[in-house]
Amino acid sequence: MKFGYFDDLNREYVITQPDTPLPWINYLGCEAYFGIISNTAGGYSFYRDARLRRLTRYRYNNVPLDCGGRYIYLRDDESKQFWSPSWQPTRTEVKDYSCRHGMGYSVIGSVSNGIAAHTRYFVPMGENLEIWQLTVTNHRAAKASISAFANIEFCLWDAQDDGTNFQRNFNTGEVEVEDGVIYHKTEYRERRNHFAYFACSRPTAGFDTQRESFLGRNRGWDKPAAVEAGQLTNSIAHGWSPIGAHQVKLELEPGETQQIVFVLGYHENSVDQKFDPAGSQIINKSTVKPVIAKYLDAVEADAAFERLRLYWESLLGIFQVNTPDIHTNRMVNIWNAYQCMATFNMSRSASFFESGIGRGLGFRDSNQDLLGFVHMVPTRARERILDLASTQLPTGGAYHQYQPLTKRGNNDIGGGFNDDPHWLIVGVSAYLKETGDWSILDEPVPYDNEPGSEKPLYDHLQRSFAYTLSRLGPHGLPLIGRADWNDCLNLNCFSDTPGQSFQTTTNKEGNVAESVFIAGLFVLSGQEIAAIAKHRGLESEATGYLAEVAKMEEAVNQYGWDGEWFLRAYDDFGAKIGSKECDEGKIFIESNGFCTLAGIGLEDGKAAKALAAVGTHLATKHGIVLQQPAYSKYYLNLGEISSYPPGYKENAGIFCHVNPWVMIGETRLGHGDQAHDYYSRINPSAREEIGDLHRCEPYVYAQMIAGKDAPTFGEAKNSWLTGTAAWNYYAIVQWILGIRTALDGLQIAPVIPKNWPGFTATRTFRGVVYKIAIERRGEGSHIALTVDGAPIEGNVVLPPTDGRKLVTVKGILS
Ligand code: GLC
Ligand code: GLC
Repeated sequence: MKFGYFDDLNREYVITQPDTPLPWINYLGCEAYFGIISNTAGGYSFYRDARLRRLTRYRYNNVPLDCGGRYIYLRDDESKQFWSPSWQPTRTEVKDYSCRHGMGYSVIGSVSNGIAAHTRYFVPMGENLEIWQLTVTNHRAAKASISAFANIEFCLWDAQDDGTNFQRNFNTGEVEVEDGVIYHKTEYRERRNHFAYFACSRPTAGFDTQRESFLGRNRGWDKPAAVEAGQLTNSIAHGWSPIGAHQVKLELEPGETQQIVFVLGYHENSVDQKFDPAGSQIINKSTVKPVIAKYLDAVEADAAFERLRLYWESLLGIFQVNTPDIHTNRMVNIWNAYQCMATFNMSRSASFFESGIGRGLGFRDSNQDLLGFVHMVPTRARERILDLASTQLPTGGAYHQYQPLTKRGNNDIGGGFNDDPHWLIVGVSAYLKETGDWSILDEPVPYDNEPGSEKPLYDHLQRSFAYTLSRLGPHGLPLIGRADWNDCLNLNCFSDTPGQSFQTTTNKEGNVAESVFIAGLFVLSGQEIAAIAKHRGLESEATGYLAEVAKMEEAVNQYGWDGEWFLRAYDDFGAKIGSKECDEGKIFIESNGFCTLAGIGLEDGKAAKALAAVGTHLATKHGIVLQQPAYSKYYLNLGEISSYPPGYKENAGIFCHVNPWVMIGETRLGHGDQAHDYYSRINPSAREEIGDLHRCEPYVYAQMIAGKDAPTFGEAKNSWLTGTAAWNYYAIVQWILGIRTALDGLQIAPVIPKNWPGFTATRTFRGVVYKIAIERRGEGSHIALTVDGAPIEGNVVLPPTDGRKLVTVKGILS
């Protein structure tokens, strides 16, 4: 069952019924000011940091599920009936409901009793504000008198504190109302030099800033007393719960359309110019007023929307493909790239499943996110790399997370996830391949943000690699530390106390438990740093890396191979994990996916065997599960992985993040059909028809789909913020379509399904547009390339040396 449809031409997903299985969300903003918005206008906004600068309040895990938002009420002032064009929060029945989620905007509306209304929400480029354009049309035969109400609830900035510290917070709330603009200035009197505002383009018939005055006692957002009465009360909040509500009266002739613009924004004043007059406690509004005035103008708002549209057109235009598969096209050309922007911006902080409070930017996560993002805005990728590397510890290890606002490593979560440092090499390598900007390696970057400790970024990569060499276990495999990619495989934890964190509790020395996954990652990152060293003319250093890589491969072959697949790990007792000898958890996806992706066992048949075993034991119609059999009980020596009920999350769920590793492994074996089949099983667009089972948005990936052991097999959870976005993008674009960035140029090596006659693509790479056409003439993956009509050797297209900006590439597959 579907709940809407793709409008590919407009790059929108159109939701046609409001009661989707879960709130289906979109993101507003892609620079510094952000919001999440559901298909019924739920959600919240924040400036840079979803925890420390939250503008509006949202109630996670409330009932109804999606509570708090950018709400509009319309009231027929004759019949006194009122409703919400976005369905929530009144949930009055409406006609022709639709929500168009597009690139950085959403348009939500419906028709009720002959009154059509829709609101377009978006954040203009370069501004710290959001625009709501409410358009109301009277389709009745008679004149209509309508009151429009717009409402938000302010959050007291620190979302954690806002939800816990009521004894203080019920006293601190303060607002100002001036010229019809509501200013939220809680704590502005003391150490904050920022405030929020909510403005309206029309003269208002009233406002409210105190929640209780607006809602009335014992009422919810579905039935605000002031809306019911048709008159806001001009309340001023003193403590309790500041809100922003405006009322505008519309007189609409038959067929007439009117528009109201609302602007919600964040503004900072310099510390010495906070107040006007100086010495008073009144906000100095001189710098914000022009911004407000500008965007309340509908012409300016439309122009800002057009700039946003063009921005996305140019970002997405960097890579466009036309294949025989509509789901591939749609995800690659539109939604998967778009999701990569969201994961780059948010890491894992703010979504319907991530509260914006708990998690900063992950070291591992953010480095991986670069794989799907770096081609869009390389300058921002560069900045992110330098931020990440600045939190690296002198040992080469890493804080697992850092806070975006302070850019400091997060001590609560600490470090010791022994895979972390290698992702920096992977991220930097992706950046170099995309941009050819070698200067980044010479950037001075501190360790642990300590002034004076700066070393060139390249030094950070060297330490990342060396980190593992001084942390090898009894079999010469990398020690796992707190965990590796699988945060929940906690082999040194041994926690038997409820509530203890699996990620930070350590009861073992950690000198025994080893990870075959990290071994695979080490082999990959070793190849990458060797190539980088070589390019820098450091031949013997490069040879040294490759020697370590060879040693590691040897250790994997000797101690990491179970006969038919790669082992997962050794536990603290030196016992195997992910072996046929185990009762449960006999085979895992991570080591098999990553070792083959890294090229281990391609020659001696191990890779082919391992992936065949993955196909037999782990692949399901809804994707590939993490391991089998699922753990049926809690294992003290394994940790959180066995804490989840079978089939969910890390305990044999379909973790969509790692499925692409197997896809890439399959392409390395030349198995285009298999790779694309796995790709399609978790492709959200291809799952649109089973929306009532899948339940999450059909336009973005979810972290997890319940595995075959779960009672809800096939049900997705945790959409949007997941490494799944970058890895799937990377797998389909760079390995299946095979348009791959390389240090010296653009490599073209498609491994596509046999029944595809070919495909065409456009790629802007280092300032040059490549028009690529691939034609299949045989069943294999051998490619013969001509560049601007001339055949070339090999499969790497070197950048033109004569200043050409357009290059035509033809590839014949046989
Ligand atoms: C989550 C984490 C990621 C981790 C994965 C597996 O997606 O964000 O860092 O690798 O879970 O545990
Ligand atoms: C939980 C999640 C896992 C995540 C970890 C760290 O264990 O299941 O996906 O990586 O928390 O926050």
